[in-house]
Amino acid sequence: MSSNSIGLGVVGAGSIGIRGCLEHLCLPDVQDKVRLAAVCDPVPGRAQAAAEKYGVARAYEGLEELLADPNVDAVTLGSPIGLHYEQGLQAIRAGKHIHFNKTMTTTTDEATELIEEARARGVKIVASPGQMLQAPHREIRRLIQEGALGRVAWAATGAAFGSYHEKEGVRQGDDPLSNINPAWYWRKPGGGPLYDMTVYGLHSLTGVLGPAKRVTAMSGIGIKEREYRGEMYPSDCDDNTLMVLDFGDALFAFVYGTFAGTLTEFGLPSYYGTKGSIVGLKLNGEPLDYPGKEEGLSHFHLLPHVMGQHRKMGEAHVFEDIMQLVDFVRDGTPSAATPEHARHVIEIIEAGYRAAETGQTQPLTTTFATVDGK
Ligand SMILES: NC(=O)c1ccc[n+]([C@@H]2O[C@H](COP(=O)([O-])OP(=O)(O)OC[C@H]3O[C@@H](n4cnc5c(N)ncnc54)[C@H](O)[C@@H]3O)[C@@H](O)[C@H]2O)c1
Repeated sequence: MSSNSIGLGVVGAGSIGIRGCLEHLCLPDVQDKVRLAAVCDPVPGRAQAAAEKYGVARAYEGLEELLADPNVDAVTLGSPIGLHYEQGLQAIRAGKHIHFNKTMTTTTDEATELIEEARARGVKIVASPGQMLQAPHREIRRLIQEGALGRVAWAATGAAFGSYHEKEGVRQGDDPLSNINPAWYWRKPGGGPLYDMTVYGLHSLTGVLGPAKRVTAMSGIGIKEREYRGEMYPSDCDDNTLMVLDFGDALFAFVYGTFAGTLTEFGLPSYYGTKGSIVGLKLNGEPLDYPGKEEGLSHFHLLPHVMGQHRKMGEAHVFEDIMQLVDFVRDGTPSAATPEHARHVIEIIEAGYRAAETGQTQPLTTTFATVDGK
């Protein structure tokens, strides 16, 4: 490393590469900690346009060139989910620390391989989404552990795919930074609402309740084609999945990832017990208090590195997760957004699909350290 500021390589200058990474990391307040060393994207002209617009030192079309750049100490993967495993392995083998946008991989075995390879090579990993960095989830865990809800019977979380990836502003223009095609979100591997959206609620749920023990599910494809800018694209991965999780001791959770309709607030599971409930950010119908709560500040922006201008910007949670890696590399501060937690959520999704295919409830075998170690 040339200085104590981390040289970051941005892999994929798409929607999140732009909105969660480049727009935040080009601001002056972070330059002493992290500098935009390189960006790569295979779409002709996209990396170059991103480098010019956001002041990135070098632009490449290929990942290999970016990984060979000695100014790159760490990478953030903002490429389609189905590429994360291969690209992550390449980056680890090149000795680069990594931030994975969710999800880190699509299978448990791939996640284990990355974790072990990184450990063997002294490479640090932060895996999004860092839901347990958000104060409400830590507070909810504390309340439940202290018995505020009595004996918890069940919880629910999930998300609906809707159509927002087609409608994002960065996908409606005619230049390489604004014509970003979202069709991969509807294809295997890595497509569908579970890996992309339900993953937030699953991280919150398991971060609060701890690892789950079993999963069963039903799953299918409801919408077989999707439209983007007047063209039809195939949608051949499941877009309608309902799962039931068993946390042991008769505590269950209902988890959904679907193309329409939502029961719970985004990323905020509901919990029901003998003495009360937490629904979204309400405890027994009253606003939940949590450390750092401020009038007018969304909990999405109440994060350790999200200050000043970053509080007014979108996708601040992705910026936060990247800064978690930056701190981890610079001063050894480990993050709550661990690859082991990500692997457990990936196992739930993978095993959920297997349960739906086979009609058999699937055991879950992976675990992770909870934020308070209890
Ligand atoms: N869009 C969102 O709202 C959002 C929010 C948070 C996290 N994420 C996550 O960010 C990641 C990317 O999602 P997105 O919405 O930005 O997708 P996107 O399709 O908008 O962008 C992906 C970019 O990766 C590029 N790419 C394709 N193959 C590549 C390769 N081999 N090497 C490098 N780049 C390659 C594409 O050309 C494109 O520019 C996913 O993991 C997603 O789950 C997305």
